[in-house]
Amino acid sequence: MNTITVVGTQWGDEGKGKVTDYLAQKADYVVRYQGGNNAGHTIKFEGKKYALHLIPSGIFKPACINVMGNGMVINPLALCEELEGLKKAGIATKNLKISAAAHVVLPVHLRLDHLSEERKGSNSVGTTFRGIGPAYTDKASRTGIRMGDFIHPHRLKRHLKSMASAPCEDTLYEQLEAAATALRPLVENTGECLYKALLENKKVLFEGAQGTMLCLDHGTYPYVTSSSPTAASVALNTGIPPQAIHEVLGVTKAYTTRVGHGFFATEFSGNLADKIRLQGHEFGTTTQRPRRIGWLDLVVLNHAKRVNGLTSLAIMLLDVLQGVHPLKVCVAYQLDGQRINDIPSSIDDYQRVEPVYIELDGFNDDISSVKHYEDLPKPAKTYLKTIETLTGVPIGIISVGPSREQTIVLHDYFMKK
Ligand code: GDP
Ligand code: IMO
Ligand code: MG
Repeated sequence: MNTITVVGTQWGDEGKGKVTDYLAQKADYVVRYQGGNNAGHTIKFEGKKYALHLIPSGIFKPACINVMGNGMVINPLALCEELEGLKKAGIATKNLKISAAAHVVLPVHLRLDHLSEERKGSNSVGTTFRGIGPAYTDKASRTGIRMGDFIHPHRLKRHLKSMASAPCEDTLYEQLEAAATALRPLVENTGECLYKALLENKKVLFEGAQGTMLCLDHGTYPYVTSSSPTAASVALNTGIPPQAIHEVLGVTKAYTTRVGHGFFATEFSGNLADKIRLQGHEFGTTTQRPRRIGWLDLVVLNHAKRVNGLTSLAIMLLDVLQGVHPLKVCVAYQLDGQRINDIPSSIDDYQRVEPVYIELDGFNDDISSVKHYEDLPKPAKTYLKTIETLTGVPIGIISVGPSREQTIVLHDYFMKK
């Protein structure tokens, strides 16, 4: 089966949108499998910039079918708004399919997200306030509503009545019903559709949202999102056989960023962090929050390698490291006097680790128009080789700028039969 799974290996915002859009030029299907509009995926080509939150990043290729899988939580009002925005920009949106089994984010979930964060006070997660946690909570509690029911007005009404917050939701009923009517033609059994596509050897790209370290199971719990962005979650969250997942591309920023709260070992602040934030335009695509900055962490990357079965890496935003001397790379942690190479599962333990760094030479040249690996400065090549050597995962893509054109590809993606 001809698939590639694109996953974030850090705390999100690694450049998954750019990579997915790039590979979508060769794909027949692009599939989002988890998360909701907490995601913000930026795509740039022909001088124009787009931000997607719910719609898969294959939408810019007219022949590509874009699927929103059963593992997603979908805010129908936000989806209608996003569709409208794309239409206004002249982007055709007809090739979009929504799983009837995907769960719906209702206005009450946004209110609950706010309340939950307020209640946690200084221990808050720093969520995107998009209602993601409460929507997944309703799903797990078996009190949610799926898209396949949401699009039938009487079932939606029945659901709203069954909820404690029904009177509030009722005031929004007309807006929700309008969204249900608009989305109805797009809702179907997407698992069947994808299975058929796979059997016909169509090229299917799975687009992760968030990143491995935000995974509910394998991330820095409780400072995580409420779904699993890993490759292991693709089959469950799209309804295709697990055997279909074999090629997994780990999208990795050349350094580390994080939005929201929670510890990460290589974080630093000050002038250098400000310089990197500025050079990399490190402000959240969804919430505009300034992203926290840190060095590349290979303990994290090796963790992502294991839980995702990474077969290649895309190293993103390498251009942003121009003029940073030296380049530090975390290769292990110290905890209680011991050197460790894995991520402690307890957050109490994790926030006590000390990073062990190696230092590499930086580069001064502007690499944003480099088209071939050979033309990169020597220190940049050494940096990349160090990542390959210490993870054992080959680099397939190097990104030197936000645009589609600023991409160096070293691996033939979608060549497998
Ligand atoms: P995603 O959530 O993983 O899709 O990533 P985001 O779109 O939230 O954040 C990545 C940011 O980096 C966006 O602003 C991209 O336009 C930008 N970007 C992606 N690749 C590169 C690159 O190689 N260099 C630079 N300078 N910016 C990049
Ligand atoms: P993309 O797909 C970066 C973070 C939030 C918060 C935590 C939980 O653009 O990489 P949530 O709203 O999901 O309950 O918030 O997860 N978070 C992201 N951080 N990129 C994202 O998506 C994120 N989606 C959620 O900041 O720390
Ligand atoms: Mg993002």
